[in-house]
Amino acid sequence: MIDRIASVPDMASRSKGLSQNGKSIGFVPTMGALHEGHLSLVRRSVSENDVTVVSIFINPTQFAPSEDLDKYPRDIDGDLEKLDSVGSVIAFIPSIDEIYPEGYRTYVNVEGITEVMCGEFRPGHFKGVTTVVAKLFNIVRPDRAYFGQKDFQQAVVIRKMAADLDTGIDIVLCPTVREEDGLAMSSRNQYLSSEERKAASVIYRSMFETSEMLRSGSLMAGDARGYLVKKLRANKMVGEVQYASIYDPVTFEEIRGEGAEEMLIAVALYIGGTRLIDNMLLKLG
Ligand code: PAF
Repeated sequence: MIDRIASVPDMASRSKGLSQNGKSIGFVPTMGALHEGHLSLVRRSVSENDVTVVSIFINPTQFAPSEDLDKYPRDIDGDLEKLDSVGSVIAFIPSIDEIYPEGYRTYVNVEGITEVMCGEFRPGHFKGVTTVVAKLFNIVRPDRAYFGQKDFQQAVVIRKMAADLDTGIDIVLCPTVREEDGLAMSSRNQYLSSEERKAASVIYRSMFETSEMLRSGSLMAGDARGYLVKKLRANKMVGEVQYASIYDPVTFEEIRGEGAEEMLIAVALYIGGTRLIDNMLLKLG
């Protein structure tokens, strides 16, 4: 059963009551257009907490004016049906005015790790993400919050924000859910034409082959960037490759030379007009 809440005070007082009654709260923040990736986070939260709150809020402050805020997929009825099939959750669906009322002026920013990778190509994006997530954390007051590994940099940035602001919230990173051909599930996959959708499988294939080469020792991390970019570009539907390389999963510095025990293979590129990202964490030894 879905309990739908729209106002900030109603959500905050519900959470307060739950905590006072000793109930643990799991939280899954989303922008809606829910797919199996989101639902896997919701299932995990339901299994680990007394109550799960799922927020659906398309956050305008994380989109640049040139980005896809207006066309971002919206399907609240479909989302509620999907949530209902998972179990009993509270759906927090605030309006934009509820989150950013007239005169709103406060922003939360994590420095350094937000200026590389996606941050380099989407300036201000992570500031919008950490601002809304900090606000949602204050409203929902969860014990645990769940994020997917597909948006690895986002999860690391949020974990740092949660720790630096002493929220006490446990940030749980969950595996990427993939389509049969390996494409990471994403609400933005809906933008792809059928030809583009077929081409998009090159991302996972190229990352996987790179990870296998690194694992077997036949490729050094310092050479992996060239190898990965070549594999991606072999598909003629691939447009701008914003980044495709091997990074330290804590600092997001590019790894050169032989490599390290833990490495992040990360890609952001365009297929047609759609920007797609993917991440794979590689643990050697
Ligand atoms: O990953 C998303 O869907 C969004 O960035 C998030 C975390 C819900 C914040 O708006």
